[in-house]
Amino acid sequence: MSTAATETTARILEDRIASHRARVGIVGLGYVGLPLAVEFAKAGFSVTGIDLHEGKTARVNAGDSYVGDIPSAVLSKFVQEGRIRATTDFAAVRDLDTINICVPTPLRKTKDPDMSYIVSACEEIVKHFHAGMLIILESTTYPGTTDELLLPMFEKTGLRVGQDFFLCFSPERVDPGNPKYQTANIPKVVGGTTPACTEMGALFYSQALATVVPVSSTQVAEMVKLLENTYRMINIGLVNEIAMMCDRIGINVWEVIEAAATKPFGFMPFYPGPGLGGHCIPIDPFYLSWKTKQAGIEARFIELAGYINGQMPHFVVDKIQNALNDAGKPVKGSRIHILGVAYKKDISDLRESPALDVMLLLKRRGASLSYSDPHVPQLQLDGIDLHSQPEAVAGEADCAVIVTDHSAFDYRQIAARARLIVDTRNALKGVNSAHIVRL
Ligand SMILES: NC(=O)c1ccc[n+]([C@@H]2O[C@H](COP(=O)([O-])OP(=O)(O)OC[C@H]3O[C@@H](n4cnc5c(N)ncnc54)[C@H](O)[C@@H]3O)[C@@H](O)[C@H]2O)c1
Repeated sequence: MSTAATETTARILEDRIASHRARVGIVGLGYVGLPLAVEFAKAGFSVTGIDLHEGKTARVNAGDSYVGDIPSAVLSKFVQEGRIRATTDFAAVRDLDTINICVPTPLRKTKDPDMSYIVSACEEIVKHFHAGMLIILESTTYPGTTDELLLPMFEKTGLRVGQDFFLCFSPERVDPGNPKYQTANIPKVVGGTTPACTEMGALFYSQALATVVPVSSTQVAEMVKLLENTYRMINIGLVNEIAMMCDRIGINVWEVIEAAATKPFGFMPFYPGPGLGGHCIPIDPFYLSWKTKQAGIEARFIELAGYINGQMPHFVVDKIQNALNDAGKPVKGSRIHILGVAYKKDISDLRESPALDVMLLLKRRGASLSYSDPHVPQLQLDGIDLHSQPEAVAGEADCAVIVTDHSAFDYRQIAARARLIVDTRNALKGVNSAHIVRL
């Protein structure tokens, strides 16, 4: 294409974005993709979601939300107005101006990044790719992914980045279940392969989101996300280690943290718990350590925090066993009721949940298990289906364990009814009784 033609390409796309006539595509309609689709629909764009999972596209088209932060009433309004539709067919890319890629990026068992979802999504996009498109990767990944892995795939079409098409990385920072910060008001960092790409990406997000933070490259944007999540993972690792130390020397770690948090500068509280969960904090730092290993740098903080956090389910199970022993009941044959199995409070996500590790370890020690979770009606443990029981079952068990501190639980009732409680979240703060054992 001539220079004049490429200038026109950029201007046409800018016009379409600024006038909200751009047809927005979201690939991967999960916890990240669906809320993003809704924000762009709210801003007046026509949004097409593409997902391989037929059940999800059917539910979106029926206005039936499966993401906690998106009420079905909101989704169905946009579907009825024709502003959101979903498909499994990548041929839809032909009619799109922009695409945000929000597919999973798990780790393999060996803790190597699994790029297969991103690669397969891009292979499909490339088949229908055309000039004048903006492509933004949002999946969390190692620094270099956008320019090293995606760019060559799109450039193979003969189109030139920064001229005929625009490529960016923008880390997704959504915090499911957070009532204050959601997709629309979490500042959006975006970095492009070229300055023109960054500008296009920033223009795009500024149409629907409150604050956009442009950075100089895709690598910086990729690294921002890994710094944020590594910071969190390491600080949780530190406080988990402090919790184990406090336990050994008989100090209430929760009281220590609460008092330390009164310092108005230089301290930010993190809290111990039964282990890391979710799709981000336990996984993302290993993207960084995998990448830096190739550059000859061992990510020692990450490895250490990963080890300490990985010990927490064992620590919790030992605490349960000791508490039962003190009550004259061996763990083998005891009835143990788990309160909360999602990986964090007030959400339904079970991915990497430490509750599953705690339950599996208890099962292996011969305990008989039940659970209550208002957000997780059933789960599979070691091939066995378990169903959530009413909270009152905690009162019949030999030990109740608060693993996830959902707001819906009636903690006063639990404290009053249960014979023995192990509280891994300080959910029973202020309730002092010999039958409550805290982390
Ligand atoms: N969930 C979070 O809180 C969160 C927060 C920040 C960042 N992230 C990151 O965002 C990315 C997406 O996470 P998520 O939680 O939304 O995952 P998710 O599993 O909820 O959703 C991903 C969706 O992508 C679909 N998919 C998989 N392969 C596909 C393909 N080739 N083509 C089209 N669709 C495909 C799946 O069917 C699924 O619906 C991950 O990289 C994650 O690390 C997640």
